[in-house]
This record gives sequence, structure tokens and C-alpha cells, in this order.
Amino acid sequence: MTKISIFASGSGSNAEQIIKYFEDSKEFQIDSIFCNNKNAYVLQRAKKHNIDTVVFTKADFETNDIVLKKLQERKIDLVVLAGFLLKVPDNIINAYPNKIINIHPALLPKYGGKGMYGLNVHKAVVNAKEKESGITIHFVDGIYDNGKIIFQAKCKVSKNDTPEEVALKVHQLEHKYFPQMIESIGKNNLKKI
Ligand code: GRF
Repeated sequence: MTKISIFASGSGSNAEQIIKYFEDSKEFQIDSIFCNNKNAYVLQRAKKHNIDTVVFTKADFETNDIVLKKLQERKIDLVVLAGFLLKVPDNIINAYPNKIINIHPALLPKYGGKGMYGLNVHKAVVNAKEKESGITIHFVDGIYDNGKIIFQAKCKVSKNDTPEEVALKVHQLEHKYFPQMIESIGKNNLKKI
């Protein structure tokens, strides 16, 4: 059984899609939601699906081994960042080489990096008059949105699209592809590492 923890900071619609996708899986188990915001809606989604939650502070995450120890205690094989806003510190990156993946709501390497999250990304895409946007699923290393790209999917951006409309299209791609990509990374990649 591949045990997965999802890290999320906010609403958690991706987290919920992933939970539902693996609900009856015999190979994958969504073990827990890790969250740095005690008021995040993702915690209610986790409760609805009877998934354990681990809530921690930014300070704990960045300055000690509390979060790493929790992952190790729970014997987590794969960490999935789904709308998680903090930069993952080196102690966790080093303990999980090529076993942490992130989804970014744009076509990296464009529109990534610090501050590029949520509507900021879609505003930048609209302001640049891009004709397409999309999603990028990638491994996580010590630099924001920098790790090896595993998968991208695109959507069209029309001339009159607002950032909110682009966000909607991108979210649909995320919900469609992220769970199945996690499954394929889990099946193909983890065994080789
Ligand atoms: C998603 O667009 C994801 O790509 C980004 O943050 C957003 C999270 O949305 N990193 P949700 O919390 O899963 O609804």
C-alpha cells in the first residue's frame, strides 16, 4: 500500500478530488491532510471523509523536525502538495527525494516562483495576453516551482477571459488530471527510486 499525505493551506478542492479518487483503492491510501492553517476549509473536507489531519505552524514547519517526524511516524511514501503555500524546507526535501509532487496552476516555467499563487498567477497570464494556460505537475526541490516537470495540460485563454474565468478552466484541468497522475507516479516512479 502506498501511503500518501496531502499538504494543503486553503480550500482543498484538489485534496478532496484526490481523496475521492482513491477511496476504494487497494494500492493507495490517502493517510492524512497536513495543513498550516487551522481555519482552512480543507480540514472540514478531511473530516467529512474521515481522513486524519495534522495542523502545524509555519514556525514549526520551517525551524524544526516536528512535521518530518509526523510523516515518518505515519510511514508516508509520497507527499502531494495541493494548494500548499509554504516552501518545503530542506529537512523534508532531503528525506523524500523525488517523492514530493506539486501542482502549479500555470504552464511552468512561466508564471512560477514566489508570490505566484492563486489569482496572482491568472492575473499575470491575462495581463500578458497569453492565448493558453494550464497546469504543471512537478517534483519539488528546494526552489519554488523549480523541480522536474512530470506533466502539463493546457486550456485556451480567450481575449475577454477574466482571471477568475481562467482560474475556473485551470481548476477543471487540475481536478481531472491530478489524481490520475498521482496514481501513475505512484505506480511507475516510486518503485524505481
Ligand atoms: C490550485 O489552483 C493549485 O494549483 C494551487 O492552489 C490552488 C488550490 O486550490 N497551487 P484548491 O485549494 O485545491 O481548491
